[in-house]
Amino acid sequence: MILNRKYLLGLQNLDKKELQIVLDSVRPFKSLFTRSVKKAPTLLGKTVVTLFYEPSTRTRTSFEIAAKRLSADVVNITVAASSVVKGESLIDTGKTLQAMNADYIIIRHSLSGAPDILARSLDASIINAGDGFHEHPTQGLLDLYTIYEKKKSFENLNVLLVGDILHSRVAKSNIWALTKMGAKVSVAGPPTLIPPKIETLGVEVYYDLDEAIKKADVVNILRIQLERQKENLFPSVHEYVELYQLTKARLAKAKKDILIMHPGPMNRGIEISSDAADSVNSVINEQVTNGIAVRMAVLFLLKPKAGKNEL
Ligand code: CP
Repeated sequence: MILNRKYLLGLQNLDKKELQIVLDSVRPFKSLFTRSVKKAPTLLGKTVVTLFYEPSTRTRTSFEIAAKRLSADVVNITVAASSVVKGESLIDTGKTLQAMNADYIIIRHSLSGAPDILARSLDASIINAGDGFHEHPTQGLLDLYTIYEKKKSFENLNVLLVGDILHSRVAKSNIWALTKMGAKVSVAGPPTLIPPKIETLGVEVYYDLDEAIKKADVVNILRIQLERQKENLFPSVHEYVELYQLTKARLAKAKKDILIMHPGPMNRGIEISSDAADSVNSVINEQVTNGIAVRMAVLFLLKPKAGKNEL
C-alpha cells in the first residue's frame, strides 16, 4: 500500500483509510531499529532537505535519522546561517533547493500555510514539519501510532488534550486524526486557551482538569508557550500550575493504565511535574523513538513528483 499523495501538509485532508495505511506501515520500519544494520535502500539516490525557520530538536533530528536510515542523501538548512537572512523569499529558497534536485523538502515555519505555498510553487514533495498554529502532521501521526501501539484500538478510547489548544498545531493534528479513527477527544484548559466553537470538530470541552481526567485513557499534555504569556492569556503561571499541571496527585484520580504523552519540549514544573513525566505511565520517550519510524513510513508512502495534485 502507498498513499496516492505527493505532499503531507496536514491531517485534515487524510481520510481514515489513509491514516490506517500509515499506522500499518510503521511497524516494519520500527523493527529495523533492533537490527545491527538499521538501514534500508528505499530512498537510495533521493535527496531530502530539511528547511527549518523555527528551532527544533525532535522533528528535525528524527527526519534526518529517518531519511538516512532509508539511505537518502540529507541536507539540513539552518535558516539563521542561510541566504534567508539576506532577504531571500520562501519561494526563491524553495526554487533554489529544487534546482539542486531536492526530492523532498521538509519545512517548519512560523507562518500557517508556508508548506502549502511551497507545494504550489515546486515539484518536490513537501512535508509540513509544523506551520504556525495550523498543523504538525507527523507529530499527530506519531502520537496516533504511539496510542495505537499501546491501546490497540481507537474505538471508545477517551483521549484528553490539556493546555494551550488555541496556539497548538499539535492539538489540531491530533484532533483531526483521532476523531477520524473513532476516538472520543476532549480538551481541557483555561477558557482563553480553548479555540471558540472547537466543539464543532467533535471535541468535548472541559475547564476543570480534575473532572476531565477521570475518564481519560490517554492524556496528552501540551507545552505552555511561555512566550505568549505576555498576551496575558491566563492570570499567572502560578495559577496555571495550580489548575492545569499534570501531577501525581491528579493522576491518582485517573485510570490506573492511563497513558501520559507530551510532544516536547516539556516545561517541567509548569504543564507537567517531573514525577508525572517520569512515571511508569509515561510514553514520552517512546513517542520520540516512534517519531523516527513514523517519519520513515511517511517518506516511504509519499510519491515525490508522481502523485495526484491534491492541493
Ligand atoms: N514536538 C516537536 O515538534 O518538538 P521539536 O520542536 O523539538 O521538533
